[in-house]
Amino acid sequence: MLCCQVPEMPYSKAIVTSPATIANFGPGFDSFGLCLDRPRDRITVRRMAKGRHEVRVVGKYDIPTAPSKNTASYSAMKLAELCGCESVGFSMTIRKGMKPGSGLGSSAASSAGGAVAMAALLGIRDKEMILEAAAMGEELVAGSRHFDNVSAAIYGGFTVVSDQRTRTILQIRPPMFRIIVALPDISVETREAREILPEAISIDDAVCNVGWASGMLHAMIKRNARKIGTYLDDRIALPYRAKLVPGFEAVRSAAMSAGAYGVSIGGSGPAVFAISEGNADKIRRAMISAFRESAGLKADSFVTVPGTGTKVEELS
Ligand code: HSE
Repeated sequence: MLCCQVPEMPYSKAIVTSPATIANFGPGFDSFGLCLDRPRDRITVRRMAKGRHEVRVVGKYDIPTAPSKNTASYSAMKLAELCGCESVGFSMTIRKGMKPGSGLGSSAASSAGGAVAMAALLGIRDKEMILEAAAMGEELVAGSRHFDNVSAAIYGGFTVVSDQRTRTILQIRPPMFRIIVALPDISVETREAREILPEAISIDDAVCNVGWASGMLHAMIKRNARKIGTYLDDRIALPYRAKLVPGFEAVRSAAMSAGAYGVSIGGSGPAVFAISEGNADKIRRAMISAFRESAGLKADSFVTVPGTGTKVEELS
């Protein structure tokens, strides 16, 4: 018996890919999450001698390699701890597919990927346990244990954290639409973007958000992309966070003029995303120009669609 919930350790290597996500998705602060088809992180975990942990990061993004500071390895360790296997040793290689601090759930992709990879290695299938470990990884970076990005990364599609206390996650299969993402060349720390939010909001703002969030769910269930776009608004975080993204209003209005159904900020920003069913390249170019012309910012961009969640690509 290797550890209390794992009678034997069946595998020695797991490769997992883990997707970018858009948290909040308009009115669902800390509740809604949309999984993107791409970009994805790729995480390889190999079993090592008991108690040893090593992390290697490959690719162009610079993230911590200390096992207790890296969200992927930290979540893997937490998953092992949750199932009573804290002594398990592993080496982990991470190829980041997305820029950290961009508002596309980079830390969630790492933490969900790390937790799923370790679960695969240990033969654990308990999604609630995986979610809990992944959220601990999020907390390491963001300073708060929010479940919106990690839920969307683990379950895929559109997810709703319908009760944070009981970790109740609803899954909705979104219709097919285009998601056009513009990433200005600035970074926003989630921790900082949470600290600027007010302690309380007005009844008026709460009523607006409840209406929009309900409309969003109805539009998702009815699979109406145009309606989904109309509910991409928010009075809880967007008014404060828009100030951290120079040019946001100009980018929003350029995307709408080019045919977008709706525009918002991804998670804590600075990514700005639009949704549409057509005109994706026109919208993308309009967003890039608006960032340049209104704020002097260079922006990367891509077009994707809703995607499936974290995937075990190889297990041996
Ligand atoms: N819901 C979180 C926030 C997501 O908006 O702070 C952070 O990526």
